[in-house]
Amino acid sequence: MNKRSFVSITDYSKEKMLKILDYAAEFEANPNRDTLANKVVATLFFEPSTRTKLSFETAINRLGGKVIGFSDASTTSSSKGESLKDTIVMVSNYADLIVIRHPLDGAARYASEVADIPVINAGDGSNQHPTQTMLDLYSIKKTQGTLENLNIVMVGDLKYGRTVHSLLMAMSHFNPSFTFIAPDELKMPDEYKQFCYEKGIKYHEESELKDISNADILYMTRVQKERFQDIIEYEKVKNIYTLRNKMLDNTKPTMRVLHPLPRVNEIDTDVDANEKAYYFKQAKNGVFARQAIICDALGLI
Ligand code: CP
Repeated sequence: MNKRSFVSITDYSKEKMLKILDYAAEFEANPNRDTLANKVVATLFFEPSTRTKLSFETAINRLGGKVIGFSDASTTSSSKGESLKDTIVMVSNYADLIVIRHPLDGAARYASEVADIPVINAGDGSNQHPTQTMLDLYSIKKTQGTLENLNIVMVGDLKYGRTVHSLLMAMSHFNPSFTFIAPDELKMPDEYKQFCYEKGIKYHEESELKDISNADILYMTRVQKERFQDIIEYEKVKNIYTLRNKMLDNTKPTMRVLHPLPRVNEIDTDVDANEKAYYFKQAKNGVFARQAIICDALGLI
């Protein structure tokens, strides 16, 4: 594996995360540069995306780089049976860096093992979404002034939601307290609770979205329809929680609502005008976090 690849949030130490966040702040202050002149980045999206793909491509364009890639694998030779390995080896011939999203857990790790250029994971199945986590950390630090000692309430699909899995691991460096709010069918998987236990991180689980008065960050998630084997099981839980503006009345003034997006019904649009709604700004922060991640992967910072 190329040592500059970023496929799991655990590839970054605490110090590295903080350094990347500092670089992201510099890119926010001055996003247009020529750092990536003569660099070609391949964005290989085997799954749909709006924010991740477009913010990566914005990040590359603002740094003077060139983008190749696809957003629909059915238009590529993988539809003729070409293996992921062969696709990655081929793209390694053309680009300096690969950004990959894939429906299979572990696909980004596998790609990083067969590529001879760095690979960035833009989401693999229900496993990890580490660049989302870096923009989440950036958003949390920006809104709370710190990453330390925060109460993080995670709501929704904690089973299949890869963003909460990466975020939990990243926040473990900063002494968080977690509340996991999910129905039985979508509870935080045991491996992540075991991880909390081993790290001495406090967490508790609830099944109803009611008392959020202690939250510093309310992290809402979408029920991941695409991961269900049985659509009837999805129908049972798809509208399990909806955050409404009124529910924010007794929350901390500094509390912010985050969501990796897209949302479906889990945040009512009446929340959007509330100053505690941060999810659209969070998505904008993705450009700066990804500028820092790309430059780091290419050894340019
Ligand atoms: N947050 C996120 O990954 O959004 P997209 O699926 O639109 O990229």
